[in-house]
Amino acid sequence: MSNLTDPRNLPGADPHTGNRKIDPVTGYDTTGHDWGGITELNTAFPRIVIWALVLTFLYSVVAWILLPAWPIGRDYTRGLLGLDQGKEAVEGFHDLSGARQDWLSRFEGEGFPALQSDATLMATAMPAAARLFSDNCAACHGTLGRGGPGFPVLSDDSWLWSGDAAEIATTIRHGINADDPDTRYAEMPSFDWMARSDRAALAEFVAGLPNGSADFGSPAGVLFAENCTSCHGETGAGGLGIGAPPLTDAAVIYGQDPETVMQTLRRGRHGVMPAWSGRLSDAEINLLALYVAQLDHHGKGTQ
Ligand code: HEC
Ligand code: HEC
Repeated sequence: MSNLTDPRNLPGADPHTGNRKIDPVTGYDTTGHDWGGITELNTAFPRIVIWALVLTFLYSVVAWILLPAWPIGRDYTRGLLGLDQGKEAVEGFHDLSGARQDWLSRFEGEGFPALQSDATLMATAMPAAARLFSDNCAACHGTLGRGGPGFPVLSDDSWLWSGDAAEIATTIRHGINADDPDTRYAEMPSFDWMARSDRAALAEFVAGLPNGSADFGSPAGVLFAENCTSCHGETGAGGLGIGAPPLTDAAVIYGQDPETVMQTLRRGRHGVMPAWSGRLSDAEINLLALYVAQLDHHGKGTQ
């Protein structure tokens, strides 16, 4: 059993003689801790640290007396100076959200043309709209609506349905092929019944539409007129407002190289845009519709 009063058990003491070991270079006691020949010096605790501790403790005592500090149940000590910004913070928050509610509620009641022509309102609202977009839409449609494979670009003027704000609001509210009784419905049918060689010719034709090299008089052009124009339009330029994309511009959802078009023709396409009614407020949906409508105009006014 070790006994703390035995000098041989004191820190730094020689376990046999009880003498303290002195470091020959510095003259300090050693603690007796030895790491492979390196002994730890028993130096004094640095004064500056002690003073720093004392000062911070004194400061906290002064602060407890003067400033709001200790919680007491649901309340807290107020401090002698009466400095309390909690109330101002709460008031400021109410002011801010009140101001937001004021302008946001206008997006519920007023028509799109009136909202669009109020430049001050639009300037106030668009930053909030951009945040709403990046929170809810950018995961699919990309930053600033730049699109991605399977998800249409929203920042150009190539539309599946329409670039009109009211139409865009309907798309956002009810979705496309979504789980909503009023959803928009559009489907690219599968043409797997068609001879593979015909599909291959059509795929080449469609790939040539954007650069104008597609020949409408060719057998593929005739196939296109017979099978595709009812949805994609006479020239393939779309714009019929039935959800079929233009095939003549550079904007693509899935891809317009012959290989991807072959896939589209074989399997069909059935893109789903979720419905947002119930998840976003009416005002928020209208705000987003106006935001999306002006993406292609870079804020130069909307249509
Ligand atoms: C889960 C992925 C997803 C999310 C999230 C999403 N979308 Fe979509 N959206 C789509 C797809 C897919 C389509 C195209 C559907 C099709 O191919 O027919 C689409 C189509 C659209 C269209 C029609 C474009 C046109 O050319 O007519 C608009 C407008 C739109 N989305 C806006 C939004 C907005 C605004 C949000 C955020 C509130 C949003 N989307 C969130 C997947 C998504
Ligand atoms: C019943 C209407 C309908 C018919 C007929 C139709 N399409 Fe489509 N097509 C669509 C719709 C709707 C989409 C968009 C589907 C989606 O995004 O989910 C589409 C998408 C496409 C795409 C994908 C475009 C892209 O940007 O990636 C191609 C390519 C295409 N169609 C080619 C054709 C060809 C070629 C024919 C004729 C053989 C044809 N379509 C016939 C409705 C139709």
